[in-house]
Amino acid sequence: MGRLEGKIAVITGAGSGIGQGAARAFVGEGAIVGLLDRNADAVAATARELGERAFPLATDVGDEASVAAAFAEVRRRHGRLDVLYTCAAVQLIGEDAPVHELDVDVWDRTHRVNLRGVYLCNKHGVRLMMESGDGGSIINTGSPTGLTMSGAGWHAYSSSKAGVMGLTRVMAADYAKHKIRVNGIVPGTIETTLTKPLVDDPETLAGLTALHPIGRIGTPADMAGIAVFLAADESAFATGAHFFVDGGISVR
Ligand SMILES: NC(=O)c1ccc[n+]([C@@H]2O[C@H](COP(=O)([O-])OP(=O)(O)OC[C@H]3O[C@@H](n4cnc5c(N)ncnc54)[C@H](O)[C@@H]3O)[C@@H](O)[C@H]2O)c1
Repeated sequence: MGRLEGKIAVITGAGSGIGQGAARAFVGEGAIVGLLDRNADAVAATARELGERAFPLATDVGDEASVAAAFAEVRRRHGRLDVLYTCAAVQLIGEDAPVHELDVDVWDRTHRVNLRGVYLCNKHGVRLMMESGDGGSIINTGSPTGLTMSGAGWHAYSSSKAGVMGLTRVMAADYAKHKIRVNGIVPGTIETTLTKPLVDDPETLAGLTALHPIGRIGTPADMAGIAVFLAADESAFATGAHFFVDGGISVR
């Protein structure tokens, strides 16, 4: 029997990278997974790959009506939600900058997805979890950039991730009484669409690799195990915590 058998999950950003890797792992462990992403083609293709345990939710996380409709669809299909894993984000590499040079439009576009989007998905996800009375597990995605010097130069992205980590902790305090656990995952540099502009440049890749004491950057598959653990009942005593799966970048 899979570790997530019988659980209904929603993963945001499931059309690519870490979210897509988690969707594969969740379905492999027996969960039914709503694949939420603004990229409708990507979630349709991922749903086809994963079969009857996955269904697409083409959604813009920054738009409340769109998010509300996605969770209404989960309620219509399954009547409940056990796990929410928020991975949708943008990093505007080449546009993000230190605040004295940072365009307000870059700040707004980043925070609209990365912080407002996480808030909206948590808002509608937690409501659905509370309806069942059975509790649930929410997993938000932070970043070492929200905590360490690895965010230097990217003030919009890093501050959005620090905001997500703060929201995760305060939500853990308030929703424990509803049996809803709220934890964060902090990935190191992972090779995905988000980091492609960095990883494709050999010099930047060498610099990033050197930042990770473990001697390499990661893959979406490296991030799947911690997400399954936090989604599963085996992590029942964990809430309000951040789990670093970052090749050691945060110990620097
Ligand atoms: N890749 C890394 O090195 C790294 C490091 C630390 C944290 N993270 C975090 O991990 C998470 C996943 O990142 P990834 O590297 O897999 O990125 P990715 O770019 O591969 O995937 C992000 C997904 O989010 C979706 N998305 C973007 N805007 C959206 C919106 N408005 N509505 C709905 N979906 C939207 C994209 O379509 C994409 O499919 C993000 O929260 C990111 O900040 C990534």
